[in-house]
Order: sequence, then C-alpha cells, then structure tokens
Amino acid sequence: MNDAFDLTDEQRMIRDLARKLARDRVAPHAAHVDETETYPEESIRALVEAGLYAIWVPEEYGGSDMGCLALSLVAEEIAWACAATGTQYVGQPLGGLPILLWGTEAQKKKYLPRLATGDLLAAYSLSEPGAGSDAAGLKTTAVRRGDHYVLNGSKQWCTNGDHAGVITVFATVDPSRRAKGITAFLVETDTPGFSVGKKEKKMGIRGSPTVALHFSDCAIPVEQRLGAEGEGFKIAMSTLDITRPATGALALGIAQAALDAATGYARERQQFGQPIAAFQGIQFMLADMAMLVHSSRLMVHHAARQVDMGIRNNTYEASMAKCWAADAAMKVTTDAVQVFGGYGYTREFPVERFMRDAKIMQIFEGTNQIQRLVISRELLARHGGGAG
Ligand code: CAA
Repeated sequence: MNDAFDLTDEQRMIRDLARKLARDRVAPHAAHVDETETYPEESIRALVEAGLYAIWVPEEYGGSDMGCLALSLVAEEIAWACAATGTQYVGQPLGGLPILLWGTEAQKKKYLPRLATGDLLAAYSLSEPGAGSDAAGLKTTAVRRGDHYVLNGSKQWCTNGDHAGVITVFATVDPSRRAKGITAFLVETDTPGFSVGKKEKKMGIRGSPTVALHFSDCAIPVEQRLGAEGEGFKIAMSTLDITRPATGALALGIAQAALDAATGYARERQQFGQPIAAFQGIQFMLADMAMLVHSSRLMVHHAARQVDMGIRNNTYEASMAKCWAADAAMKVTTDAVQVFGGYGYTREFPVERFMRDAKIMQIFEGTNQIQRLVISRELLARHGGGAG
C-alpha cells in the first residue's frame, strides 16, 4: 500500500515526524488522560517542542507555513495515538485562524508568533447553552461604550477554554439581526469580568477540557474586536471551512487506530482452531472498515488541498470531509469493538476508548446533521435551482 505517493517531500517528512512523536510521546499517556480526565500536559509539550504548533502560521509571523494538508496529516497521526490530544492540537488553529484570516496587522503581530511557538494557547467560543446548531441565535451581548465593548452572557462547549490565553469569542451587538449582529472579539483570559465555568464530564476525548465561559460586564478594548461589527458570523463560518477538514483528520486518525487494532487482533485471536482472520465474516468486516478509512483520507486530503490552493468557497467539500470521516470513524470503531468481542468492551483494550472518542466527531464543529444541511444547500445552490 503506497498511501503517500501524492504528498510532497515536506508533507511526508512532517507526517513521519508526527507519527514517530505521536507513537513515542503521546500514545503512552492516552489511556491515563482518558481514565483520569486530565489535561495531556506532557503530550502537548512534546508537540510544542517539535514545532508542530507552527504549521498553520505564515513564516512572517514565526510559523512554518506548511498549510492545511500538513495540519491534517499531523492531526491524523496525533489522533491515532490520543484523540483528546488531537482535539487540543486542532483547537489552536480553530482559535487562531480567525486572527490570521480577519485580523489587523497589529493583531496578527501581537498573537500569531506566540501561537506558533505554543507559548500562548487559543480557543474558539461560538456555542451557547441555547445556541448550538443555530449559531446565529447566540445571546451573549456586546455593547459599545466609548473605546470598549462590554460583554455579558455565557458560552458553552469551549474546547481548551480553561487553558487558553486568548479566546476568539462571538457575541452580538444586536440580537434581532441574528447573523448580521454577530461580532468577534479577542478576549484575553485575564480580563476582569471573564471567568471559566463548569468543566464537562464527557463520554470521550476526556483529556481535552470542555468548559463554559462567563462574561459579566467584561470590558474589551475596541482594538480587540476582530473584523467589523456584524462580520463575526462570516469569521466563524470561514474558520470552520478550514478546520472541518482537520476535524475530519482527527476522526480519520481514530478510525485508522481502530482498524490497525482490529486487524492485529484478528490475526492473533484463535477460535475454532484458527485465527479469526481466517473467517470470511471477519475479513469482510475488515475490508469494509479499510474502505471507510481510505475514502475518509481521500476526502480529508482533497478538502485540505483546496484550502492550500487558496480556494475559499470550499464549504461543500469541507463539510463532506468532516461528515464522512466522522460517520466512518463511528462505524469503524464500533466494528473494531465487535472484532474484539467481549475483550473489546473492556478497558483492557483501547478500542472502547476509540468508540467513545469517535462519537464527538459526529457532534462538534457542527453536527453531522448540520453538515448535511450545508452540503444539500450548496448542492442545490450550485444546481441553479433548475429541475433534473
Ligand atoms: N463562509 C462565509 N460566510 C458564510 C459561510 C461560510 N462558510 N456560511 C454562511 N455564511 C454567511 C452567509 O453567506 C450569510 O451571509 P449573507 O446574509 O451576507 O449572505 C450569513 O453567513 C448567514 O448564513 P446562513 O443564512 O446560512 O445562516 P444560518 O443561520 O442559516 O446558519 C448554519 C447556517 C450552517 C446552520 C450555521 O449556523 C452552522 O454552521 N451551525 C453549526 C455551528 C457549528 O458548527 N458549531 C460548532 C462550534 S465549533 C466547535 O464545536 C468547537 C470545538 O470545541 C471543537
């Protein structure tokens, strides 16, 4: 199997580096951070030390400017070892890309170099208790008072909100205008009036902290506004067009790990006097799993390459890559547990963790129902509304 013939030397090099690092320095902590629901400190340090946080940042801001495909290759390798660490890793561009895409020169210079080195961690906060899929219905308000905006409200499901130094927060200057009132702010987490709320106890990616955020008369200087008033929804969505392929890559990494584990186990596990891999029922399962992994990789790489080519109206392919890879990961990990039988249902083997970790991939960064909504909207719009 030559799965890397279409990568550049640089992409292959970064993938191989990430693979070795993930297997040597991330995988050993994966079961522990899951079991204890603790932040994967040592794993993140290993990624930072290897310079992997710099990939999505242009060289002029201290990054290595390797692009979205490189980011996806690395995300897959990390998620293969530990999906919680992978989620943390992708959380950095999720929080930081809005600055790169929409920030002023001063904002880019202020934040991007430290995001590239990992000295500063970022997060992205769109969702609220009453605004998940309906992101334009968010209620956190931003009222302009002279040279500040005053933020009030609560956010939910913020990955890394308790470790980030800067959070891209979406609030509204006019709730009646829905998407057109949404405005983005760069909130430094030592700002008075900002606090971190409840940390969720989750089914999977348990080493990746997911927290609520609260804003109580939190004064944010005008120069911390990202883009113009009312531009926040576009900022939020255009960021997801780049990070959804990377989320697909996380799902892909989990699925590849489950396929690898199931294949290895099927060759070793003896029943009826032979390895269970000798049974056609198992062979067909493994073949279906392998096809799902392969098709996910093709879709993730395709969507990521579009970003690298500067194609910005890639919503259709980005949503497809995320949705397909997440559904594939759910199916592949569930089948991996089945191949392991009773052992797969225990915490002696990692496949039950893979299955729990896969589930969130169908939910965050837009549920797979929302991805289907986006895909069908794009499809119908591209079709020009004509019949047939
Ligand atoms: N790029 C740029 N602009 C976009 C866009 C895109 N991809 N998608 C929409 N817009 C623009 C539209 O053009 C429109 O602007 P105009 O009126 O000027 O034309 C405006 O935004 C509003 O768009 P819609 O009318 O399509 O808005 P909607 O209310 O119908 O919602 C939606 C669309 C697709 C359902 C959107 O709300 C959505 O994606 N919901 C899911 C939210 C989501 O993904 N949340 C995940 C949070 S991140 C996360 O999970 C983080 C984590 O911890 C890992």
